[in-house]
Amino acid sequence: MNTRKLLKNHLIKIGFTQFKYNKDYKKWAQEKIKKSNLSKKVIEKYYYYLKQNSIKNKYKLDLNFYNLIAEFDVLYKTLHSFKFKDIVHNGMEITKELTEPTKVLDMGCNIGYLTSFYAKYFPRSNFIGYDKSRYSIDEAKKIYSKLEYPNLDFINDLKKLNNNRFNYIIDTQCLTNVSNRNLRLIVKFIKNKLKPLGKVISISNLPNEKEAEKFIEIFYDNKLFLKEIKPLLLINLNGLQAYTKLIFTENIGIVDYNVKSYFFELRKKMLY
Ligand SMILES: C[S@@+](CC[C@H](N)C(=O)[O-])C[C@H]1O[C@@H](n2cnc3c(N)ncnc32)[C@H](O)[C@@H]1O
Repeated sequence: MNTRKLLKNHLIKIGFTQFKYNKDYKKWAQEKIKKSNLSKKVIEKYYYYLKQNSIKNKYKLDLNFYNLIAEFDVLYKTLHSFKFKDIVHNGMEITKELTEPTKVLDMGCNIGYLTSFYAKYFPRSNFIGYDKSRYSIDEAKKIYSKLEYPNLDFINDLKKLNNNRFNYIIDTQCLTNVSNRNLRLIVKFIKNKLKPLGKVISISNLPNEKEAEKFIEIFYDNKLFLKEIKPLLLINLNGLQAYTKLIFTENIGIVDYNVKSYFFELRKKMLY
């Protein structure tokens, strides 16, 4: 079976559902939540967060939101089903980058649906999923048993990494959502957790050149330099979506990047 199919099956086994059309997803999601035994208060909270996220440009779904959905499987299954295609797309891109045997830290792993896939796919390697949301990590520990995933651990506190160092530190859709102040602390921390020649791979939807420049600058300030910048386009339930894959290493001068021309080319691509 090909890797994409394996990943889709992995997500389906956890309870996520793939949809082709937004209207079908919406109908299914509403029914699923209505039929659940969630309290009115929880449902209202869930929709409140989602509404803020859709109407306010700069609104970021925060820790309270991720703790809330991790507490109720119907909520995380509903939410992540909306992102099914994005998760597969980004997970595939990470899978292509990793080479065995290796040690990987997954930053912002949520309930570990991708981290657990990597662990299954690369049995000779070791994976640690970290998330700030304690409830997400508690849920991850419940879903993926040590028996089935002996090479996979989850932590909610970076201090638990002790002296561990990694060949890859990966980030799908987490680090661009943290404040610049926090990102500085995180990047400083992860720099020291990389093995020599290690890589940071980050995939997220950087919205424009200003945000992208700020993001990349924080890595440069910590002596992590751009090795690759690549657009990843996909059509998800919201239409055409652009992600950016960034790879950072300690080696200086690998890519003479120009964020303005990157976004210029990206916008051109999105028009066709
Ligand atoms: C959009 S989800 C992405 C989940 C997964 N990586 C994926 O690709 O689907 C963002 C996750 O980042 C976590 N997060 C947010 N800020 C964080 C931080 N400072 N450190 C670690 N995790 C964080 C959230 O709790 C949430 O689980």
